[in-house]
Amino acid sequence: MDDSLYRQLVEGSPDAIILGDAGGRIRLWNAGAETIFGFTAAEAVGQSMDLIIPERLRGRHWSGYDRVLATGVSRYGRGELLAVPAVTKDGRTISIEFTIEILRDAAGAILGPVAIIRDVTKRFQREKELGRRLKELEARGQPHAPAAPEPTRG
Ligand code: HEM
Repeated sequence: MDDSLYRQLVEGSPDAIILGDAGGRIRLWNAGAETIFGFTAAEAVGQSMDLIIPERLRGRHWSGYDRVLATGVSRYGRGELLAVPAVTKDGRTISIEFTIEILRDAAGAILGPVAIIRDVTKRFQREKELGRRLKELEARGQPHAPAAPEPTRG
């Protein structure tokens, strides 16, 4: 594939694709990131990722970020998804899930992590609502399955 196809793949993705540098600044912010978080690329590139990270999660994010830059491996590379809340430009809290990949230059030096992020707010709210209804049913003592028949003797 030539470079223009790769560019279309990144730019056209409805998922947010965000590349960070070794200092934790945003290097790439695609159209999907503009739609999900509300900031344009011009507003986001060069800024700290704290732009979209709720204050209480920043400590955990940056200690993980530094560890991954030092080791070159992320536990969210394959299989695992990082699921967290995020803040948008207009101050809403949304639910996101993402994987993390480490980008390297031709010599193998680490350039920074790239996050591929999906907005899962609707699903998260549905699951919360289902959990709430289940608790309600349990509190009312409704049976979830027919009672087992009485054991017979003889
Ligand atoms: C709203 C946005 C974000 C929030 C709330 C957030 C939050 C977090 C949290 C809570 C952790 C710790 C996870 C753990 O210990 O298991 C973490 C780790 C990390 N985050 Fe973020 N983050 C956000 C965006 C990003 C973005 C955009 C990038 C990269 C471009 C990124 C890169 C990392 C890396 C590399 C780690 C370490 C992962 C590992 O331990 O394997 N984060 N983040």
